[in-house]
Amino acid sequence: MRWKNVSGIIIITALLLLVLQLFIQPVVALSNVTNNSCADCHSKLIFTTEEQRKFIDIRIQHLESGISCSIECHEDKLNKSIASTYVMWSISTHALFEVTCEKCHGGNKLANTKNEAHVGISNISNARQETPQMCGKCHVPELEQFKSSKHFKKLESTEEGPAPACVTCHQSHSVRVLTASEIEDFCSNCHNNITGINPSVPQKAEAALSSVKELQDEIAKARSEMIIAKANGANVNESEASLESARSVLKDIPSVWHRFNLSYFETEVQKGIVNARNAETQIPAGTQTAPTKSPGFEGFILISCIIAIYLLRRH
Ligand code: HEC
Ligand code: HEC
Ligand code: HEC
Ligand code: HEC
Ligand code: HEC
Repeated sequence: MRWKNVSGIIIITALLLLVLQLFIQPVVALSNVTNNSCADCHSKLIFTTEEQRKFIDIRIQHLESGISCSIECHEDKLNKSIASTYVMWSISTHALFEVTCEKCHGGNKLANTKNEAHVGISNISNARQETPQMCGKCHVPELEQFKSSKHFKKLESTEEGPAPACVTCHQSHSVRVLTASEIEDFCSNCHNNITGINPSVPQKAEAALSSVKELQDEIAKARSEMIIAKANGANVNESEASLESARSVLKDIPSVWHRFNLSYFETEVQKGIVNARNAETQIPAGTQTAPTKSPGFEGFILISCIIAIYLLRRH
């Protein structure tokens, strides 16, 4: 009987810890941010018109259901309202990782009055053009690749015409990441027959991003076969090396993407897929399937428990 109580307590404690962990993490991440006068003061600024209120509701609903918007989107309109910048930021990945206002805008986050806090704030009207440098302080690999893109060359040149900066695609405060299915609509804002800016880009870009899924699947398959082969005592060193190469290609994908050279991107993804497939074929034959099922460790424990309870009851 006593053993039953103890195991019950252990199970309940483990469940409690699990639940606590789920709640504590986000709370800790957000509470660190409150010691920041920029966020404190800006969170209290209110919307001036009913229209702004409506826009923010729509935008939050879109974010929650994963819908992205076109280039002239609600956030662009909303950005004209000072209050909305705080709201957009507060539900972003940046808020979670303490990328606070002054990290991009400058200013003094310890000052309590507006004038003191705003000393040294960068000029908002130039902000969009300056985002590669602004964002690249932290996103170094993305900036490195972006610098060799035609997008960057166009931004740097004095030629007329639109070119996307970091915030055109990610927005300045919500920092959303477009998914493969959203790409075609989004890129065709500029890449279409009317502007004449390479109209074949949107379709190719969607295909390119979708091929990353294939790489992920091949890696997962090679990995699980390798785990089984290892459990069967096979030598998987060669296969492990190939899998590592495939993984390192996958790790670089988000930065390589920012070169905006789709044939280069495709070549990299294919390189990863070939590595992952090699990892599969390099596993010694006959070792990558699971052995016939025996009762295993869990079965052993279960049977021991039943015997133990039976014996305790008899005493
Ligand atoms: C005590 C309140 C207060 C504090 C503290 C404060 N702000 Fe502001 N901020 C405002 C108000 C109000 C505005 C609206 C525009 C104006 O009146 O200047 C504003 C405007 C801005 C703008 C837009 C400026 C423009 O040119 O359109 C930026 C960017 C900004 N704040 C960033 C910051 C940052 C970064 C910090 C912290 C270092 C900060 N603010 C601290 C009240 C504050
Ligand atoms: C990751 C960088 C980044 C962070 C963090 C950030 N901003 Fe911004 N913010 C920008 C950029 C870039 C622009 C210019 C947007 C544009 O031109 O589209 C901007 C614009 C603004 C504006 C001006 C909007 C307008 O049109 O007048 C305000 C106000 C502002 N930010 C406030 C804040 C506040 C308050 C915070 C923190 C709660 C914050 N920002 C955090 C990058 C950032
Ligand atoms: C002070 C450092 C810093 C600056 C400046 C910064 N970021 Fe970030 N950013 C981070 C961190 C930290 C994360 C979260 C961890 C990660 O994904 O690397 C992040 C995440 C992101 C993500 C992924 C969001 C997601 O949900 O997966 C995007 C996109 C992004 N940032 C874009 C930008 C853009 C655009 C700018 C400039 C306007 C910018 N960042 C400026 C530090 C920064
Ligand atoms: C033309 C649109 C576009 C521009 C411009 C752009 N990005 Fe991205 N960015 C994307 C897309 C699409 C993805 C998702 C790529 C993927 O799924 O691998 C992404 C991914 C990211 C990520 C990784 C998110 C993750 O999940 O790991 C970061 C960080 C990021 N971008 C930062 C930047 C920075 C910094 C700049 C400017 C130097 C920039 N981006 C310019 C479209 C863009
Ligand atoms: C704000 C407008 C704009 C947006 C949005 C935009 N682009 Fe571009 N893109 C350009 C311009 C301008 C060029 C340069 C054309 C040139 O110099 O020939 C370009 C060039 C490119 C090129 C090189 C094409 C070639 O012929 O070499 C690729 C690839 C590309 N963009 C991908 C994308 C992707 C993917 C997206 C969406 C995530 C996107 N672009 C969104 C304006 C844009």
